[in-house]
Amino acid sequence: MDWDLIYSHAQQWVKEAGERIRSSFDQTLDIQTKSNPNDLVTNMDKETEQFFISKIKQTYPGHKIMGEEGFGDQLDSLEGVVWLIDPIDGTMNFIHQQRNFAISLGIYEDGVGKIGLVYDVVHDELYHASRGIGAYLNDEPIPLLGETTVKESIIALNATWVMKNHRIDHHLLIPLARDARGTRSYGSAALELIFVATGRVDAYLSLRLSPWDFAGGAVIIEELGGIVTNLRGEKLDFLSKDSVFAAKPGLHQTILDEYLKSGKW
Ligand code: IPD
Ligand code: CA
Ligand code: CA
Repeated sequence: MDWDLIYSHAQQWVKEAGERIRSSFDQTLDIQTKSNPNDLVTNMDKETEQFFISKIKQTYPGHKIMGEEGFGDQLDSLEGVVWLIDPIDGTMNFIHQQRNFAISLGIYEDGVGKIGLVYDVVHDELYHASRGIGAYLNDEPIPLLGETTVKESIIALNATWVMKNHRIDHHLLIPLARDARGTRSYGSAALELIFVATGRVDAYLSLRLSPWDFAGGAVIIEELGGIVTNLRGEKLDFLSKDSVFAAKPGLHQTILDEYLKSGKW
């Protein structure tokens, strides 16, 4: 397997897809809803996914693809090389703000993350990592993550989880939100994972994400010494939806032990 070539193709295609998204900004979007009125999809989400699929299928016919918009393969295993694609992560931001969204791509071999890319399209910032080779923001290496304490940390989480909701007891996360130096919510899981990777936030947690939301970011964070699990502290399974908890080393264990142990996540 020529992983250097796969890595360079992935970077080239993500950049090309980003260019297409940027040049769509002055066109009218076709916006539809999916599972609920706030679950949005546009023609650009679909076109971007189809763009990746045609490139991958032409160049690597043996590789499999899991894409959010459903144009990829139906997978029941992660055997072989699998591309996990979120063509636009943060679609609501894309529609309302034309910023704060990203393309997320993870390439896995037999379930192990080999390459991760998250492209902040508007800022032309490509975050990328290849397992064992380091993580970069464009051409600049990203420094390894260090340790910190809860009281000096910024935690990214969605306000939904600290107000009454149908999924969890909303009291569970209030102590963490209260003890941290600050909380943030950006509306793009892929970018929030990148903010952990770059130390802009110290931890990110979400109650329910899909593999394409976290497959790219997880490779980048782990390459920098950060830890990515579900909220129970278990390894993520890249075939199903799960909660996600990413943090700096040390801080990850502290939050698990002191704040998350009592929850049924
Ligand atoms: C969503 C974003 C959001 C997260 C949602 C995801 P989408 O992805 O990552 O931050 O809270 O759970 O579905 O739908 O914009 O690709
Ligand atoms: Ca997403
Ligand atoms: Ca998406």
